[in-house]
Amino acid sequence: MRLDKLLAHAGFGTRKEVKDLLKKGHVQVNEKRFKDGGLKVKPETDEIVVNGERVQFAEFSYWMLNKPQGVISATEDKIDRTVLDLFKPEDKRQGLFPVGRLDKDTEGLLLITNDGELAHELLSPKKHVDKVYFAKVTGELTQEDQTAFETGVVFLDGYEALPAKLEILAAGEARVTIREGKFHQIKKMFEARGKKVTYLKREKMASLELDESLPLGAYRALTERELASLLKR
Ligand code: URA
Repeated sequence: MRLDKLLAHAGFGTRKEVKDLLKKGHVQVNEKRFKDGGLKVKPETDEIVVNGERVQFAEFSYWMLNKPQGVISATEDKIDRTVLDLFKPEDKRQGLFPVGRLDKDTEGLLLITNDGELAHELLSPKKHVDKVYFAKVTGELTQEDQTAFETGVVFLDGYEALPAKLEILAAGEARVTIREGKFHQIKKMFEARGKKVTYLKREKMASLELDESLPLGAYRALTERELASLLKR
């Protein structure tokens, strides 16, 4: 992993602030001073020191949750249970939040972290991160629906969605890939085609795929490989 990216993720500021730290010679890797942020380092084995202080990498936690229906994607709520209420007290460290929102009745992949920079990378509308959903809808899906998704569905309120991929799996079942995240995006896309979503589950976000062995409501830490692949973006 690049040294500058690693330092940014470890809380040493923005990429630019990290660059300054490096330029000023404040960063040592294995007792040698390095000024190049592009240096490849191994967080588990390399000893990285900033201003005489050993960098701790456990600062962030990253969890994959299989969100069940009935809980909301928020950190607290006066009425509903939130996704954080599913966490054991010992795992519920300060500052955890869900990366993006799934509707109360949507299931599936939700990343929970305290890494704001990664969340920004994944959610920024400019980044066009792929999100993949499995949907069941009323009525029969057609070639015209597929073409409309490819061209850019126009919502009933006039908003034109970015081109998306619709894979028809059965008459009323599909896999949809979108690159934006408007409120109720998938439901509105189908609504514009005269169909109502009756079941929705997120399967993938960027390189992160839902672990199908996780029961609804369960969560686990991301593996090193999953995390490395997300941070590589
Ligand atoms: N699109 C929706 O309509 N709902 C979700 O929860 C996610 C995407």
